[in-house]
Amino acid sequence: MNDKTHQEFSFNGDDFERVRKKLYRKAGISLSDNKDALVYSRLARRLRALSLQSFDEYLTYLKRTPAEEEHFINALTTNLTSFFREPHHFTALAHYLRAHPGEKTIWCAASSTGEEPYSIAMTVAEVYDSFDNPVAIIASDIDSQVLEKAQTGIYREDTTKNLSAQQCQRFLHRGKGTQNGRVRVVPELRKNVTFRRINLTDTSWPIRGPIDIIFCRNVMIYFDKQTQISILKRMINLLPDDGLYFAGHSENFNHNQDIVLPAGKTLYRPARHRRRYG
Ligand SMILES: C[S@@+](CC[C@H](N)C(=O)[O-])C[C@H]1O[C@@H](n2cnc3c(N)ncnc32)[C@H](O)[C@@H]1O
Repeated sequence: MNDKTHQEFSFNGDDFERVRKKLYRKAGISLSDNKDALVYSRLARRLRALSLQSFDEYLTYLKRTPAEEEHFINALTTNLTSFFREPHHFTALAHYLRAHPGEKTIWCAASSTGEEPYSIAMTVAEVYDSFDNPVAIIASDIDSQVLEKAQTGIYREDTTKNLSAQQCQRFLHRGKGTQNGRVRVVPELRKNVTFRRINLTDTSWPIRGPIDIIFCRNVMIYFDKQTQISILKRMINLLPDDGLYFAGHSENFNHNQDIVLPAGKTLYRPARHRRRYG
């Protein structure tokens, strides 16, 4: 660890280890050795809010106060996302929906502040040329704060640069007055997405299959390989033979062909022999 003598709160290697273990146990997130500064800056806000003096005090408080766990996890997740991130996935989604019309369920499994599930909902509305379509979208995340933001559907206007003028006009309302510089996803689109808090490392998920399409992008990178494979197997069990699994740009399962087969760029389908996993 770096020299911490000038820091506001006392924070040592033992504190960092305790944070690391707790985060792994509660959210499956593996922090590397060099993430001490990140832990310090993210949790310092909690210490300030609780008027605590040291990380040792905070960790004792956390142990005794189950309600703090949610704040602890919210503080330590990384929520970077954007509308139409990795745009080739939305082209593939539209193609799939046209080839497989009818009732479908899509699960967006680490939906962060909502840009990803709303991009999915926009794609669906375009394919059906209607908000009233047979596709259900479930969006989930472990972080209750990002879920709250997602549900409001309010974003800074400059985050919508990946949307065409036509998409902006159809799917967003421009804020006025105090909301100047912000946009809000139209209610017809918001109602097409159901948000839920789901921890992917929980032993059971409050979600019923079959799920036709799973977006699980840019979250597996925070888990160790064993956790990744266990989650991947459970997700693939929810998919039908012709289902799709969308992975993040740096998540590669090409070496797991007993579970999934490549179906495009960071896109997978269940392995053909459909082995069932326990
Ligand atoms: C970097 S964001 C990715 C957002 C979006 N999927 C995308 O690709 O733009 C990672 C998200 O995973 C969530 N996350 C981390 N650990 C999780 C867990 N154990 N269960 C569910 N979500 C988790 C974080 O809260 C965060 O919102």
